[in-house]
Amino acid sequence: MMANVNIINDFHKLYYESYVWRGQTFWLGIPIYKCPLDLWIYQEIIFQIKPDLIIESGTGDGGSAFFLASVCDAIGTGTICTIDIQPSAKIPQHQRIIYLNGSSTSPEILKIIRLLTKGLSKVIVILDSDHTKENVLAELRTYSDFVTSGSYLIVEDTNINNNPVLPDFGPGPMEAVKEFLDERTDFVIDKNCEKLLLTFFPNGFLKKI
Ligand SMILES: C[S@@+](CC[C@H](N)C(=O)[O-])C[C@H]1O[C@@H](n2cnc3c(N)ncnc32)[C@H](O)[C@@H]1O
Repeated sequence: MMANVNIINDFHKLYYESYVWRGQTFWLGIPIYKCPLDLWIYQEIIFQIKPDLIIESGTGDGGSAFFLASVCDAIGTGTICTIDIQPSAKIPQHQRIIYLNGSSTSPEILKIIRLLTKGLSKVIVILDSDHTKENVLAELRTYSDFVTSGSYLIVEDTNINNNPVLPDFGPGPMEAVKEFLDERTDFVIDKNCEKLLLTFFPNGFLKKI
């Protein structure tokens, strides 16, 4: 078993350090900063939950929002609200996507999110903005309230800070998740979402119980 873990970690590092996922991976022509295996899991989660709303912190070039919107198109339900402090000039337009410009934890943005989520029964949250522990923990503490029971709060890039990539990053998403779960009993790590062996989000798929 240990040998298998080493193989997975070695491939994880090889794949990550190729940086093919950053600027050379596209969804329908739009750059998307993801490992395709994680996108497959997103598709399974969206099909299972059939969310009214998916909130994404960190738009980037809009590739992930566009992907989420495509899956929502396929199942016929769901809106994507994606937030960025410095949005790209070339984000794709899609009728299911709402773009918000600002910091995810600012009072202005949180006020809009509160309005958008009011009365909804199925909300997924994805955190992919500033990956410092401080910011991710602040996002976890605020955005966890918007996640509905049985749905997911997904913390991206828990693989950095030597889990197993970017050993010198410093405290990041993985450390934020640990502290958050020490404070809370209403979220559990869904290890089944790591079944494809390689994920950039180890311990990052949190299910609200
Ligand atoms: C990794 S990129 C997002 C990539 C995108 N989700 C994808 O997979 O294609 C991170 C984004 O987070 C944004 N960002 C950084 N700090 C932020 C904050 N406090 N609030 C909102 N967005 C932030 C950056 O401007 C950047 O565009």
